[in-house]
Amino acid sequence: MDQIMDLAQKHSLFVLEDAAQSFGARWRDRSAGSMGDMAALSFFPSKNLGCFGDGGMIATADEELAGLAKMLRTHGGKDKYDVEHIGYNSRLDTIQAAVLLVKLKHVDRLNNLRKKIAYKYNEQLKDIKWLTLPLELEEAEHAYHQYTVRISAGKRDYVQVGLEEKGIASAVYYPVPLHQMKVFQNYSRQAGNLKHAEEACREVLSLPVEPLLKEEELGYIIKHLKNIKM
Ligand SMILES: Cc1ncc(COP(=O)(O)O)c(C=O)c1O
Repeated sequence: MDQIMDLAQKHSLFVLEDAAQSFGARWRDRSAGSMGDMAALSFFPSKNLGCFGDGGMIATADEELAGLAKMLRTHGGKDKYDVEHIGYNSRLDTIQAAVLLVKLKHVDRLNNLRKKIAYKYNEQLKDIKWLTLPLELEEAEHAYHQYTVRISAGKRDYVQVGLEEKGIASAVYYPVPLHQMKVFQNYSRQAGNLKHAEEACREVLSLPVEPLLKEEELGYIIKHLKNIKM
């Protein structure tokens, strides 16, 4: 983020952080979602802080942007009869807010459980030659929304099937890079081939890192990963 912010400052760019997967993550003394001009957070049920349906939040330290976001959230105006913008109906439901208020008290503890699982994977999987484990830099704190490994040389799908045969769920986040999506076709012509993004899409596999995963379930996953024959 330091490099992104430096670049943005140099070229007067607006930085919108996608902090959907990083609630509780930190870089140096800053929380994810507090470094750019604005940040989007997701409270989708599977996220580190999840509600019982759809929900999300915008974070910004800019009063003017906050005022605009508040208007856009509720049809585009400060009140019903003084509409200034074409807005949305994007209020957080009260029921979801109530759920989040309770879950907010537990999110640090649950994130620590994610961390414990991630460190156990790191420790137990470090000798598997065909696996590249996620890296947590010293100045960073990972929120482990995903524990994503990389498996090279076209073996990723084979490993995923091997796990599936043992009843172990895993997922590919994400199989298609943005520049290959129809919606961004115009931009991708300028971008050309983004080979690192394309490579990541072929190699990534996210392993279970649900905070309430039991010790024996984690042991079972590790055992079967180690047993996969390459
Ligand atoms: C990185 C990232 N950005 C954005 C989103 C979108 O979040 P939502 O569906 O709550 O709008 C997600 C959800 O999966 C995500 O993982």
